[in-house]
Amino acid sequence: MDRLVVRGENPLSGTIPISGAKNAALPLMAASLLTQEPLTLRNTPDLADITILGELLSEHGTEIALRKQDGVRMLRLSTPAITSAVAPYELVARMRASFLVLGPLLARHGEARVSLPGGDAIGHRPVDLHLKGFEAMGATIFLDQGYINARATNGLKGAEIRFSTVSVGATENLMMAAALADGETVLENAAREPEIGDLARCLITMGALIEGAGTDTIRIKGVAKLHGAEHEVLPDRIEAGTYALAVAAAGGDVVLTHTNPEAIEALLELLGKAGAQIDRTPDSLRIRRDPGHRLKGVDAMTAPFPGFATDLQAQFMACMTTASGASMISETIFENRFMHVPELMRMGANINLHGGTALVRGVDILKGAPVMATDVRASVSLIIAGLSAQGETSVSKVYHLDRGYERIETKLTACGADIRRIRD
Ligand code: UD1
Repeated sequence: MDRLVVRGENPLSGTIPISGAKNAALPLMAASLLTQEPLTLRNTPDLADITILGELLSEHGTEIALRKQDGVRMLRLSTPAITSAVAPYELVARMRASFLVLGPLLARHGEARVSLPGGDAIGHRPVDLHLKGFEAMGATIFLDQGYINARATNGLKGAEIRFSTVSVGATENLMMAAALADGETVLENAAREPEIGDLARCLITMGALIEGAGTDTIRIKGVAKLHGAEHEVLPDRIEAGTYALAVAAAGGDVVLTHTNPEAIEALLELLGKAGAQIDRTPDSLRIRRDPGHRLKGVDAMTAPFPGFATDLQAQFMACMTTASGASMISETIFENRFMHVPELMRMGANINLHGGTALVRGVDILKGAPVMATDVRASVSLIIAGLSAQGETSVSKVYHLDRGYERIETKLTACGADIRRIRD
């Protein structure tokens, strides 16, 4: 199993190109099931999660072709017929975003049998909001042997659906299903993440009638058929935020290109308060911190977009471990998202956990140690800690990182980081 070995205390300097967003590409790939014509996605990242969803789509009859055009990855997905509407446990359990095939399969095929994803390292993560929404649209749903069986023999009907909690996945699943339903669907208290807007833009290019994506009320008028399209996946805001935090932690001067700073405004505000220097253009971001100038501890609370993203919480905490003063970090989205805390403490961090809040008291320096993590963002927080730490940090279970970060060691090494991948 691979591990990454980081030697810390090297300031970063250079340019990092940001890849296409994993969390946009996954629902877009699922959306390709809605039409028998090809959907071509430009700028798809080269990540394990994309491959896993590709394997699942192949089970449903999707033909997938990958080519590169001027260095940009183009994924062509074409499903002339749904050959199977079963999403097996082995694949869904490996990646919960696989559950996003349920809406498209149900809408196009009238039925689907999709395994429940099960729990994962960041919580028990139910799918009740997805299921209630499909029921409101006229589907019958029953659970059998760990599988959700959903049926809408006479097609899905438009409905008014108000989510009790803001859910990115439920908003996406229902928006896709509603695109082919009979009548109008209104999604209230919908998620406003940029990836929802990206999915809506793609569906509209495919012929869907959608208004309000990016606000908390989305209106979808169902159409009888969608057609093929070409769509460019938006840049990965979580990857951009992660590298911004890496520079803030290690010190240095780095420009992130192919990115949209507006999508991480909440993080940039926190980093500004902490004392990092930030310059934005519409599609790039320069982040600087003089290694002799210590960051200040600032408080942060995760929230749905446009709030501070839960997917940046672990990385932000790594950054705060060596700030001057204290930082109170509250996690409000997932109940169990502090798996990185004991690992950061092995490196000398001073962190107290009280329920959903972590009190981080900054220490002068972290010390390298062997550490391991349980999910993609927790793993990268340990890389960030390793970049600022004294000595060597060895991060094991790197396959988590490979799920969310394209060529991470290449991108960081190009900016002067000392990182090696070791195959044990
Ligand atoms: C997506 C992102 C993930 C991110 C999360 C929150 C993808 C592929 N993944 O995950 O990286 O951390 O948004 O920004 O885009 N909930 C319910 N019932 C449901 C669905 C969700 O109670 O039916 C709860 C969850 O347990 C959680 C909250 O709602 O507490 C938000 O989850 P949700 O937005 O659905 O996350 P995902 O779409 O799974």
